[in-house]
Amino acid sequence: MIIGTPYLTTEQIHKRISELADSISRDYIGKEIVAIGILKGAFMFYADLIRMIQVPVTVDFMVASSYLKNASTGEVKLHADIREDIAGKDVLLIEDIIDTGISLNYIRDRLLSFMPSSLKIAVLLDKKERREVDVPIDYKGFEIPNKFVVGYGLDYENKYRNLPYLAIFKKKA
Ligand code: IMP
Ligand code: MG
Repeated sequence: MIIGTPYLTTEQIHKRISELADSISRDYIGKEIVAIGILKGAFMFYADLIRMIQVPVTVDFMVASSYLKNASTGEVKLHADIREDIAGKDVLLIEDIIDTGISLNYIRDRLLSFMPSSLKIAVLLDKKERREVDVPIDYKGFEIPNKFVVGYGLDYENKYRNLPYLAIFKKKA
């Protein structure tokens, strides 16, 4: 297993996240955000993004999985739910990557059932060509090709999440 040169460097990621945070701060002026991160993959993006947001933020998380090795199972498992009451609140759902869209669609439907006043979605990465379910994305970091990426929170078999950059995953030749 080789993790080659960064596909997106720490600097590129941080620069883009600060742009997203600026848009979010502008869009939510005078409001408060309940930021819901999807664990585990979104933890690094979440932590960097909310630190740059300029309006009050309440933090909460969901733990969900849909991926085995590097192929989507097409089935979402909810391991832990949110703890905040989000009825009437402005919710920002924060996810690492949208691929088929099955996970985010499931999570979005679940959060909408709690009747938030608004629900927007921020994703760091979008593998657009893999989409099976259409999900509205309000804040998007990067569109990427159909390659498996690791680092910056994203894993292969729960490893490489701690890389501070994103790399394309390659099996050893
Ligand atoms: P979806 O349900 O197919 O949209 O899959 C989304 C989930 O699959 C993400 O939350 C990730 O956990 C995982 N995933 C999709 N693509 C990648 C990748 O390239 N690297 C690591 N995880 C990925
Ligand atoms: Mg994930």
